[in-house]
Amino acid sequence: MNLPKCISLANLPTPIQPLERLSAELGVSISVKRDDFTGMEVSGNKVRKLEFAVALALEQGADVLVTCGGLQSNHARATAAVARKLGLECHLVLRGKPEEVEGNLFLDLLLGAKVTFLEAEVFNSSHLEVMEELKRNYERMGKKAYLLPMGASNAIGSFGYFKAYKEILSQDIFFDNIVCAVGSGGTQAGLVLGNILHGYKHQVYGIPIVDDSRVFGPVVRGLVGECLNLMGMDSAFDEEAIKFLDGYAGRGYALNTREELAFIRNIARLEGILFDPVYTGKAFRGMVEEVKKGTLQGRTLFIHTGGLYGLFPKAMEFMEVLDEKDSDYL
Ligand SMILES: Cc1ncc(COP(=O)(O)O)c(C=O)c1O
Repeated sequence: MNLPKCISLANLPTPIQPLERLSAELGVSISVKRDDFTGMEVSGNKVRKLEFAVALALEQGADVLVTCGGLQSNHARATAAVARKLGLECHLVLRGKPEEVEGNLFLDLLLGAKVTFLEAEVFNSSHLEVMEELKRNYERMGKKAYLLPMGASNAIGSFGYFKAYKEILSQDIFFDNIVCAVGSGGTQAGLVLGNILHGYKHQVYGIPIVDDSRVFGPVVRGLVGECLNLMGMDSAFDEEAIKFLDGYAGRGYALNTREELAFIRNIARLEGILFDPVYTGKAFRGMVEEVKKGTLQGRTLFIHTGGLYGLFPKAMEFMEVLDEKDSDYL
């Protein structure tokens, strides 16, 4: 198999931990792959994608990494940190105007990233043009800028989760299901690619934390096909390999319901594990609901893709559920 080049940025392999009390309560086996342990500054799922995406940037002689995302983007913060680790500059194009500097945005600034803030509508309609313009500006200054897409979710970045899939196989614990959050599709695409190329050993499910499978189906299909192409293989594959569990995006991107926050609180108190409110908390809750419905049977592995700095901007919202009586755990 021809794999693109990658550099080493993450602490790997990440451990797989069983959640014993939760499993006993649900009567199934649930484990978590702790990709929130891949690092501190460069943490979560982003670092696995950046190992591939940034290798290409370095090969092309980049001086500046330019990328985009929401104000609290984990990917933006991870890119800002990677840039510094490699002695590069970073320029972020972020959606929205901050009322406060906190969480990931604070870390972006601490790491010295330059930030262009765009009103949400302007970001949605023209962030790509703005990034291209920045690239031309850097060129005029004699610097080479390399543009990374949102979430580093292009085919190159997705190879990070192909490698993660192989890591799971090497950890020698069998799972029936592998479940991850979906925000831009690259994590799921890499896992699906791994599953396809290793004989469909698992059911790989993505849980959209914004939109739904109608939006992400074509995205993930496209990424898997492109990865196969880059590997010099036939890009046709059984599309049944891409499975989604819809219905857990709640109020929308980075917005939470009281039930979601209470769920994150309950799991923290039951298992001593923290999930973030934007991605993993919603997806893990979806996974538990689907176990209860009987959709997910047997042994399930949830990929904890990180995002914990996203808890801090939500502290005041969490205060409302912290003192509630711990009724049912789930
Ligand atoms: C913490 C966290 N988990 C999950 C995701 C979703 O991964 P992907 O963008 O590859 O779908 C993201 C980013 O979007 C993230 O920051």
